[in-house]
Amino acid sequence: MESLSTAKLPFSLVLLCIATTLLNRVFAIEVCKFPAIFNFGDSNSDTGGFDAALFEIKSPYGETYFHRPTGRGSDGRVVIDFIAQSLGLPYLSAYLNSLEANFTHGANFAEVAATILPPPTVLPVGGFSPFYLDIQTSQFQRFISKTQFIRQQGGVFASLMPKNEYFGKALYTFDIGQNDIYVGVTANQTVEQINASIPNIIKGLSKNIKNIYNLGGRSFWIHNTGPYGCLPHTLTDFPSIEIDAWGCAKSYNELSQNFNHKLKEAIVQLRKELPLAAITYVDVYSVKYSLISDAKKYGFEKPLVACCGYGGKYNHGSVMCGNAGTVNGTEIFAGACENPSTRVSWDGVHNTEAANKIIFDQISSGAFSDPPLPLNKLNKLINGTRKKVERERRDVSKEHVAFFI
Ligand SMILES: *[C@@H]1O[C@H](CO)[C@@H](O)[C@H](O)[C@H]1NC(C)=O
Ligand SMILES: *[C@@H]1O[C@H](CO)[C@@H](O)[C@H](O)[C@H]1NC(C)=O
Ligand SMILES: *[C@@H]1O[C@H](CO)[C@@H](O)[C@H](O)[C@H]1NC(C)=O
Ligand SMILES: *[C@@H]1O[C@H](CO)[C@@H](O)[C@H](O)[C@H]1NC(C)=O
Ligand SMILES: *[C@@H]1O[C@H](CO)[C@@H](O)[C@H](O)[C@H]1NC(C)=O
Repeated sequence: MESLSTAKLPFSLVLLCIATTLLNRVFAIEVCKFPAIFNFGDSNSDTGGFDAALFEIKSPYGETYFHRPTGRGSDGRVVIDFIAQSLGLPYLSAYLNSLEANFTHGANFAEVAATILPPPTVLPVGGFSPFYLDIQTSQFQRFISKTQFIRQQGGVFASLMPKNEYFGKALYTFDIGQNDIYVGVTANQTVEQINASIPNIIKGLSKNIKNIYNLGGRSFWIHNTGPYGCLPHTLTDFPSIEIDAWGCAKSYNELSQNFNHKLKEAIVQLRKELPLAAITYVDVYSVKYSLISDAKKYGFEKPLVACCGYGGKYNHGSVMCGNAGTVNGTEIFAGACENPSTRVSWDGVHNTEAANKIIFDQISSGAFSDPPLPLNKLNKLINGTRKKVERERRDVSKEHVAFFI
């Protein structure tokens, strides 16, 4: 498992921000706050992109919190919702959702079934999202210029767009990689073969972080990947695989751990290459694993059984959550369990809102971050470099134009 290396914190920078805060308090200006979030990822953080662009995510998704399906892969809120809420920002609109979007305080480029690397096959024929990470980044690049153009036009549409200054001050969040492992699984690769592809996958993630830095991003919050071997979906795929003390598939968890190890190394390298960036590595793996190993402590039961689904040991065997199907000649609907708040897995791949809330509570404390700063103090890490950032901003905007050519 990951050990948290206690990176040295730039305390002088922390002080600088506090001083600025005290000074500005006089004028009632809040300075140490992210004004926007731009999120990139897969179904762990999609807030409606896939639903808008590809296929409807049906009831009972959304039943617990929103009381309607919202395109989230859960019964309620996902971790990025809790992050936005805790920073005093609205829930993120999906970039591809043309009907409900308000991008004043950020946008969400994450898509269900998205990978880091170009997927081998895409929906609806294949199994993965066409909006893999490179595409999400290029969507973001166009987002910057188009939103600024629209703002200048004024009117109601301008009130839906972020201010230009938000791009340098925003928090850039990532939660992606799980589906790159799944690509190998669907290609019938062995664990060793998938393992061998990890360095290349991580390279793809690093490249995109650099691209977003070159587009002006400075504060990065990067989730590692969860325990792939603890997903009811994985355990259903491999019914006779070797399991650990908690019932998770050992070899697939080792894959996730190796992914995370390589990601952590890549972030150390990125910190050297991107001197004005503040990059936080967040060990979501350990928290998600503890939901299973310490299920009782958190008030959860059956942590490896999907709440919503139908069939098999993991309630994920025959019909997927929210779908109808015929099983043994009988028409059935794969609905939700009675009390999702007592369960970890919502649909065999994604967590319940109850689990997502605990994941958020744990990771926002800083106890699972490198450097170990709580989410609400994160900005202090960044703000010290502000002046340097401002100086470089002009050069950065020049790069906007040339970057993707
Ligand atoms: C950081 O500090 C500067 C002043 O140096 C301030 O303008 C800014 O709003 C602060 N916060 C952020 C998120 O940039
Ligand atoms: C978009 O959201 C912002 C901030 O929440 C709000 O001030 C603005 O009025 C909204 N725009 C519209 C058109 O509702
Ligand atoms: C993987 O194996 C399954 C079952 O043996 C087979 O149906 C499927 O076609 C194989 N997929 C690929 C991509 O080889
Ligand atoms: C995966 O690859 C790493 C090297 O990148 C190696 O240390 C590790 O043992 C491999 N794990 C598996 C399960 O093959
Ligand atoms: C379908 O019937 C078979 C044979 O009776 C049984 O073993 C299996 O569990 C049934 N499947 C489901 C999903 O109920």
